[in-house]
Amino acid sequence: MRIAIGADHAGFRLKQQLAQHLKDLDHDVDDLGTHGEESVDYPDFGAAVGRAVVAGDADVGVCVCGTGIGIGMAANKVPGVRAAVVHDATSARLAREHNDANVVCLGARLVGSAVAQDIIDVFLSASFEAGRHVRRIDKLARLDGRA
Ligand code: RB5
Repeated sequence: MRIAIGADHAGFRLKQQLAQHLKDLDHDVDDLGTHGEESVDYPDFGAAVGRAVVAGDADVGVCVCGTGIGIGMAANKVPGVRAAVVHDATSARLAREHNDANVVCLGARLVGSAVAQDIIDVFLSASFEAGRHVRRIDKLARLDGRA
């Protein structure tokens, strides 16, 4: 799978760990930064990941900041992005199955690296259930002006 990953300074270390984890699983990882612990602004990286997904350069995106909230807000500003902030494997699975989330957002100050890896693994292995959820996803697309 082609995966775009991005983080701000608060998410940098966890991003590095997750990028390595994804490479170990033979995914094609596009690291969009940040590339160090110097203070940066999460909107730049959430937008970059979101744009990569919507452009079709990545199948899914992974975003990390301190809470996952700010970078998720930024990603969701890109029309076509359905970014979900998740804190456990169950919310990661449901974000895929019900919401067809195409970006997963994690809070490095809230979840440890083992939980974060579980979240990523479950997010990537779960699939959209379609059915009744399609109508709702279509409504999200209309809110984005995309349908
Ligand atoms: C950075 O200090 C922090 O505000 C940011 O990583 C994030 O948690 C915002 O949502």
